[in-house]
Amino acid sequence: MHTPITSTSAGIANLTLEEKASLTSGGTFWSTKPIESIGLREITLTDGPHGLRRQDKAHDHLGIAQSLPSTCFPPAAGLGSSWDVELIARVAEAIGREARALDVDVVLGPGANIKRSPLCGRNFEYFSEDPIASGTLSAAWVQGIQATGVGASLKHFAANNQEFDRMRSSSDIDERPLREIYLRSFQRVVQDAHPYTVMCSYNRINGVYASQDPWLLTSVLRDEWGFDGLVVSDWGAVDDRVAAIAAGMDLEMPPSGGRSDQEIVDAVESGSLDAVHVDAAAQRLWELAEKTAPTDSARAVDVDAHHALAREAAGRSIVLLKNDDDLLPLSRDEDIAVIGAFAEQPRYQGSGSSNINPTRLDKAIDEMRSLSNGTIEFAAGFSLEKTTDTETIAALREEAVHLAAAHRVVVVFAGLPGRAESEGLDRSHLDLPQDQLDLIEAIIAVNPRVVVVLSNGSVVRLPFAARVPAILEAWLLGQAGGGGTADVIFGDVNPSGKLTETLPLRLQDTPAFLSYGGEFSHVRYSEGLFVGYRWYDARDMDVAFPFGHGLSYTSFSYGEPTAVITDDGDIDVTVSVTNTGARAGREVVQVYSSIGNSSVQRPVRELKAFGSVELEPGGSATVTMRARRADLAYWHPIAQQWVVEGGLYTFVAASSSRDLRGEVEVEVVGDEIDVALTRDSSLAEAMAHPVAGPLLAQAMGANGQENASAADIFDDDSALQTIMGAYPLGRIAMMGVSSDMLDQVLAASNAQR
Ligand code: GLC
Repeated sequence: MHTPITSTSAGIANLTLEEKASLTSGGTFWSTKPIESIGLREITLTDGPHGLRRQDKAHDHLGIAQSLPSTCFPPAAGLGSSWDVELIARVAEAIGREARALDVDVVLGPGANIKRSPLCGRNFEYFSEDPIASGTLSAAWVQGIQATGVGASLKHFAANNQEFDRMRSSSDIDERPLREIYLRSFQRVVQDAHPYTVMCSYNRINGVYASQDPWLLTSVLRDEWGFDGLVVSDWGAVDDRVAAIAAGMDLEMPPSGGRSDQEIVDAVESGSLDAVHVDAAAQRLWELAEKTAPTDSARAVDVDAHHALAREAAGRSIVLLKNDDDLLPLSRDEDIAVIGAFAEQPRYQGSGSSNINPTRLDKAIDEMRSLSNGTIEFAAGFSLEKTTDTETIAALREEAVHLAAAHRVVVVFAGLPGRAESEGLDRSHLDLPQDQLDLIEAIIAVNPRVVVVLSNGSVVRLPFAARVPAILEAWLLGQAGGGGTADVIFGDVNPSGKLTETLPLRLQDTPAFLSYGGEFSHVRYSEGLFVGYRWYDARDMDVAFPFGHGLSYTSFSYGEPTAVITDDGDIDVTVSVTNTGARAGREVVQVYSSIGNSSVQRPVRELKAFGSVELEPGGSATVTMRARRADLAYWHPIAQQWVVEGGLYTFVAASSSRDLRGEVEVEVVGDEIDVALTRDSSLAEAMAHPVAGPLLAQAMGANGQENASAADIFDDDSALQTIMGAYPLGRIAMMGVSSDMLDQVLAASNAQR
């Protein structure tokens, strides 16, 4: 069923079929077709999401040709580690202002795909392995950018969780994980932030291209979630244009040179495509033009203020993984050896369509020197160019080790070279380059006071973690990352970032290790619900650093959490937090839920809400976080409905998914499950049914002694009950229930539905 367009605006209603069809594909690589006669203006769309990639000459969707200068903010892997929805909204608003200044109407972001495996080349563009974290942080970005009147494009819808074979691979996912993990992230954004557009992904989902899947783009996105915007294709994602428009995919980008517009006209005229779909697509483009129409001429962008915001965001994105003996923050008078080419040539964003041409670029070595009153010497330590020249490698390392031995503290800037992770490519391992690993080992051998600062878009293995006192996971921090890092190293900023994805000990431990990439263009999400921390918790596995982890230069204690059920059935969890250290700081508090004796498979605990509090030393404050009742639901694939299970839930207040600080139990009233009994229902299911149970017990007991045992069995909790309970109703004639009797039982049981 297609969501009927209530009415086509006057402008659209008078267009010919050819004119309407022409609106459903782009006019140029980055813009739509205007129709001046009806006042429909050209709409410009371009990338995002961590800055504006506005190209005014050569065009491409892979970040190859140059773009106009724009502020490069931290990509999502970094920004998401802030868990700061207010900050994310401010960053997105700044991007919106820059978009306005360059006449862009829609910025292609945020990326709300789940980080299913750390191997994914685009993880730097995504927020989390968890759907509530990903959805909440993505929604903040949408709310921020749309506050400027510029539209967002929530992407890549959906289940685009690898780059390998992305243009045709089928993400084969069971219904519960598809709904509860991969779609839930997008659902949160659509229903909380109302993005003006959604971008369908390249891949198939369970065999159907996202670009032409009516279940995905109409039944779920529009009819269930209430999305009322426009669906735009990823660039080059449309395989069958007519099927796509019938499915609810409104705008093909880039244009196909008019080829597909004619196909649409022909399909309508032949009767194979209902014109209502073309009207709807044209109407949605009209509405998008109206929503994004510039309302004021204010186009000035304060480039310095945006750079300052980028620096604030960078500092808040950094995760302090460990800090033995409080080595950090360093004194400004400290005697420091800064080692690592990234300190001078920062790795600050990912490769591909999100690649921004920054307005300026901070170098960590410069920013550290400007904050320092002590001595700072630098050595590259390794080459950023791919080299096998062992002499060069050895010489760089020897120079660096010599420097490390000559200074009191060493700060090593290590990470993944840009070529290692990119849109369109996946990694095959989690390792840092060997020359960097060798360098770190050689430095540790001559100086115990080592801080490692990591620049990486996705998880890397940290074999040295136990042997260095301090590690900053700095992800990719945008153009002001050098300054943000210097602020954290010297303590001008107290780090408060927390991991939004698990750092595993090794690749073999990861949930998708045996299925990632797939083959023959099918990838089976064999881990089901157990993505990210859900996997490691269910298997009680050690990890390098858990989801939600992040230290501070101060410390925090938690009181016992309390909970209140709101009128809407949501659960407000409140906890008091105290700064027990000597320095002001911010704590991100997480709330995880679990239910004992669930009737379905469940992760050990799942993130349901989070909040944060900033406290002076000795200060206390309470944080109240809302766990939505709807987020407790699991998807019932037979009833085809969300079900909140009744029972006793435990809500945990935590500093990470494995640093649990207190819990509170709440009795939740569950939903009725509306599942018709059928001949394929099991005897156990039927015996538990309020109507069918007594009728069947009577039927089985009414036919003489030998069948009475069949009814009695369900009076006790015996192994036999399990065995017999597994019988499908259609096969219990042997227990004395005739086919006619069974039909009567089914009719009576389903009569109330
Ligand atoms: C790319 C990306 C998408 C981007 C679009 C336009 O292939 O998948 O994220 O917005 O094309 O560049």
